[in-house]
Parts: sequence; C-alpha cells; structure tokens
Amino acid sequence: MDKPKVVLGVSGGIAAYKACELLRRLTESGHEVRVVPTASALHFVGAATWSALSGNPVATEVWDDVHEVPHVRIGQHADLVVVAPATADLLARAAHGLADDLLTNTLLTARCPVVFAPAMHTEMWEHPAVRENVATLRRRGAVVVEPAVGRLTGVDTGKGRLPDPAEIFEVCRRVLARGVTAPDLAGRHVVVSAGGTREPLDPVRFLGNRSSGKQGYALARTAAARGARVTLLAANTGLPDPAGVDVVQVGTAVQLREAVLKAVADADAVVMAAAVADFRPQTYAAGKIKKKDGQDPEPVVLVRNPDILAEISAERAHPGQVVVGFAAETDDVLANGRAKLARKGCDLLVVNEVGERRTFGSEENEALVLGADGTETPVPHGPKEALAEIVWDLVADRLR
Ligand code: C5P
Repeated sequence: MDKPKVVLGVSGGIAAYKACELLRRLTESGHEVRVVPTASALHFVGAATWSALSGNPVATEVWDDVHEVPHVRIGQHADLVVVAPATADLLARAAHGLADDLLTNTLLTARCPVVFAPAMHTEMWEHPAVRENVATLRRRGAVVVEPAVGRLTGVDTGKGRLPDPAEIFEVCRRVLARGVTAPDLAGRHVVVSAGGTREPLDPVRFLGNRSSGKQGYALARTAAARGARVTLLAANTGLPDPAGVDVVQVGTAVQLREAVLKAVADADAVVMAAAVADFRPQTYAAGKIKKKDGQDPEPVVLVRNPDILAEISAERAHPGQVVVGFAAETDDVLANGRAKLARKGCDLLVVNEVGERRTFGSEENEALVLGADGTETPVPHGPKEALAEIVWDLVADRLR
C-alpha cells in the first residue's frame, strides 16, 4: 500500500523548531511527508533540516521546479495538509485564499483534510481579525487546533503555545483515519470528564478507584479531531494534555461537580466518562491520622456524593443538550444498563462489562451503548479510540 501523503506546512514562528519533532513522528510512523515552509519559517529552521528529516526536496516559492507544476501537484496529491505552527499571517492568507507562495497555493489546491495548529502571542490570538479568520477556516471544514496555555516567547505566558508535537501528531492520525469526512463536531462545545475522583481522609490518604482516564482522553482527542471545542475535566489522571483541548484538573467528586456545572452551561454534549466516587469520608482530618497503641482505629463514616450525571440530565443547561454516561457492570449488562439509563436520565449510556483484567488501565474496551430511544449499539473489542468514535457518531446523530 502507498504511504499516506502528508504536507507539513511550516510558517514563520519560533515554534517552527517543534515541527521537526512532528515531522519525525510522521515519517517514522510510515507517512510520506513533503515539507512546505514559508520564506519566513526558514529564518527559524533551515531548508537543509526539513529536507534531511523528510527525505524530500524543500521549496517555499512556486518558481522552483516549475515544470513539475508544484503549486498544484503537491496539494492535489496530499492525503492531509497540516500547518504547524500556523502564524496569524498564514491564517489570514489561508482564510482569504491568497496564493502568494507555495504553501498558500498548496492550501488552495488540496482537497484533503487540513489541520492548522496556530501558535502566537495571546494578544494576537485574541484579536478579532484572527478570531474571524479562524472561524472562517473552521466553517470551511478545516480543523483548527486551539493553542495551549503556557510559556510563550520571552517572558510572557498565556494562551498561544503550539501544543506538544506528539499531541498534534495524534490529531493528524485521527483526521487521516477519518479521511475527507467533514469535521462533524465543528462549532460544537463538548465536555468530557475523565479519570477517577479521590476523596481525602487526611492530607496523605484518600479513597480512590482504578480508573486511568484513558477512555475519557480518547473521547477528548477524537472530539477535537472532529472539530469540536473540548473541555476535559481530568480527575487524577497524570496523562499529557491532548492538543487543542482545554483541560481543567479536579480532585474530588464535589470539585468535579462544580467544574461540570460551569462547563456545561454552553455545551452541546457532555460525556461523563470519569469514575466518580459515590461516597466520601464524612470528616477530613486536617492532620495525618495516627495509629494509637492499644486502640482500635476510628471507623470511617461515609456520606453520599452528589450524582452529577443524574443532576445534569434532569436539569439540562439547554434543550437539545446530549448527555452521555458510562457504567461498569459485572453481570446482566443489558438489564442493569437499561435500569441505570432510566435512573440517570441521560440520552446514552455506555455499558462496559468489567472483570478481573478488563478495561481498567487497558488500551482496549468493549461495550454496549444504550440509547434512551431504545437503540442498542454493540461496540466490539477494540481500541478505546474506536469506542470514542462510535460515541461521537451517536452524539452527532442526536445533535443533528
Ligand atoms: O452510578 P454509577 O457510578 O454506576 O454511574 C456511572 C456514571 O455516573 C458515570 O457516567 C459517572 O461519571 C456518573 N456518576 C456521576 N456522579 C456520581 C457517580 C457517578 O456523575 N456521584
């Protein structure tokens, strides 16, 4: 089989050096990559680097190798175009259809999916001109990855950092896998909870669970690759932030509830993949609980945690909002799942059969997705990402 053909556009920002890492990941995972830098990108990383790492010639203008008509050919033959970093200038030229160099020509001739990973200072990212250009590109079907928050060039910090190359690579992989299908969650805001809450007993101890957060992160990554604005509420996962996803860290069920209620206000869909503790210790000891000689330990009294899924299902932030829950069952999956779906009042319930070595922390999952409308969608054993895609398919059907 032919290797998938990727065009890596690089525009002139300091984050260009991170695109070398993205390029290496793409080539090492079997993609044929053609790098098309802008002239200003070459101030940051030279043509020799791009050429050596990609194994292909590098040009910035349409005047090199004119007989091969590169301004048309490169875009026509691409399976994916990814521009990382995308500067404010490049976004503007792309949004307005300018064709003043090889990269912008390529963007006009490409009929494959296009991913932009912008990087710039916060003020530039927030400027109405940039906002409008980003909105235009998204409306036309491009995936524009939200920049990350953190250290920028110089002493500044804020939103505008290029996300980690490994995470941009993940977006590319997912977009390539979906092919030319339009990003069907574009313009949507989705909220995903992931991980497991920890309910503290004292400053060093907690009641927790084995949820790794991998399924929730797979949901967040696939939604971003399908064009959604994603808020990921992460409870004790220790996993790297997915590219283009707003990550809010929480610890306990009560903190998760607060974060969910805030995030769902304008959300089109909410997926509660987190394992939320049903109970928490009634009291929290400000100092470490000590064992006392000759004395039995104090019993731990538990109180109920709020059921977040039931609450947001009953009081929808707005009509049409789709709410999805997860349930782990050890037996009688269908009957228990149906009962739970009714009790929680959500639209979809993803039921996992759990056992000894199943699901927790693993890369794979198997499930049955129950719909409040009576539908049943079996998801065969496979990567958590595949289950995530099916969940978003079902959500997208309901949003339509
Ligand atoms: O009731 P059970 O814990 O089996 O339900 C699991 C589903 O409910 C998951 O989607 C989980 O995120 C959600 N849940 C919740 N608040 C709780 C307990 C569970 O939102 N206190």
